[in-house]
Amino acid sequence: MSEMAKLEVGGQIYEFPIVVGSEGERGIDISTLRGKTGLITLDVGYVNTGSCTSSITYIDGEKGILRYRGIPIEGLAEHSSFVETAYLLVHGKLPSPNQLDRFSKLLTEFSLIHEDMLQFFAHFPPASHPMNILASMVNTLAAFYPHVDAQSMTEEVDITAARLISKIRTLAAVAYKKSIGEPMVYPRHDLRYCTNLLHMMFTSPVTAYTADADVVRAIDMLFIMHADHEQNCSTSAVRLVGSSQANLYASISSGITALWGPLHGGANQAVMEMLEHILADGGNVEKYIDMAKDKDNPFRLMGFGHRVYKNHDPRAKLLKNMCRKLLNKGPGSDPLFDIALKLEERALADDYFVSRKLFPNVDFYSGLIYRSIGIPTSMFTVLFAIARTPGWIAQWKEMVSDPDGRIGRPRQIYTGEGARCYIPLPKRTGESTGA
Ligand code: CMC
Repeated sequence: MSEMAKLEVGGQIYEFPIVVGSEGERGIDISTLRGKTGLITLDVGYVNTGSCTSSITYIDGEKGILRYRGIPIEGLAEHSSFVETAYLLVHGKLPSPNQLDRFSKLLTEFSLIHEDMLQFFAHFPPASHPMNILASMVNTLAAFYPHVDAQSMTEEVDITAARLISKIRTLAAVAYKKSIGEPMVYPRHDLRYCTNLLHMMFTSPVTAYTADADVVRAIDMLFIMHADHEQNCSTSAVRLVGSSQANLYASISSGITALWGPLHGGANQAVMEMLEHILADGGNVEKYIDMAKDKDNPFRLMGFGHRVYKNHDPRAKLLKNMCRKLLNKGPGSDPLFDIALKLEERALADDYFVSRKLFPNVDFYSGLIYRSIGIPTSMFTVLFAIARTPGWIAQWKEMVSDPDGRIGRPRQIYTGEGARCYIPLPKRTGESTGA
């Protein structure tokens, strides 16, 4: 018999079971609340609401813990590869050497996109943001591969997952080439996942590109760190859209759109724009700390704060060290990195940030790393989307495989007008015509 929570409404007591997760997290299962009481819950931004049970990713925001399928992010970032981590997320276990080999071969095999897709790219306006193009083109994949359903996620999971993880990288690179007015570069079968991405982005008709091993490793680690993050905004979008039985590509396209927002994955681009702005404004860090604290000013310190982490984001710590290492290897310093360090130091010594538990998040340093290895700002969130694809697929798979799954359909508390009569147009007067 599970522990019960009691709710008293109008003198009557109702009981609801407490669900306990494998790490001791507790939640009240209110699935019978409306049926029993006629009430719903109101939780703007879903701050207190669990939308599902999940066995993919565990976060303890108070302790700064992040684990995929039980394995700490620090261990994966140091020892794993993005391809192996993708397999882990999608299948729930680390692959054997043979399984990893098969999965890697599938990623290579699927790297081309259908030649007809190139016609779509040709018609985006020249200044299109690559995220815009990517979301549209991932949705378009459904027209070329229409048979992705719950069955494909159980019986052909390797093929379905590898096809999307591979093609999204090619689509992203073509979107980038389109955004800078260069012809697309085809993937190569002799290159591994991250090297192939860099090749498609940076080879041009007039210059060859050879990827530096440290740069490839940095991309690999960044992708591992971004691969999943449980029920965040974009993943919830993927699950919500997918819960209507929309296809995998449509669901992931909605995730890409959600990720684009500056409060979510778009924050890495917003951080760089903020740092550049502070530098151009004379590097006065105090001024921007004060602006972030001012409730009358909409400015926020981008790359700071997190809905779940109320302690250091473990990914931010790893990325800060990586950024330092890459700068030491390359130019030695970056004035934007210096500003970021100062902002972090001042913020963490300020009661406003300390009392609200606002720490640097994953996006605070990731953009600086991308910049140090020559990735243009407009591609930061696109790379985040490539990296998050295995997580989205794993979450979509978990959702469609759940026998108790239902369409996602939140309720509301209506606060509008009471019932009133329709007034025919000729009888309405003035600007306020509705009443
Ligand atoms: N700068 C200044 N104040 C902040 C910031 C910030 N970056 N973040 C939160 N606060 C304040 C906020 O004003 C509020 O203050 P008060 O309690 O006095 O009203 C308090 O901290 C709590 O903030 P909140 O907006 O209620 O927190 P939330 O959980 O709804 O939002 C967040 C989380 C990440 C959207 C927010 O911290 C933020 O806007 N950060 C900047 C954008 C950013 O870096 N986003 C990337 C998130 S991590 C990667 C990802 O999700 O993709």
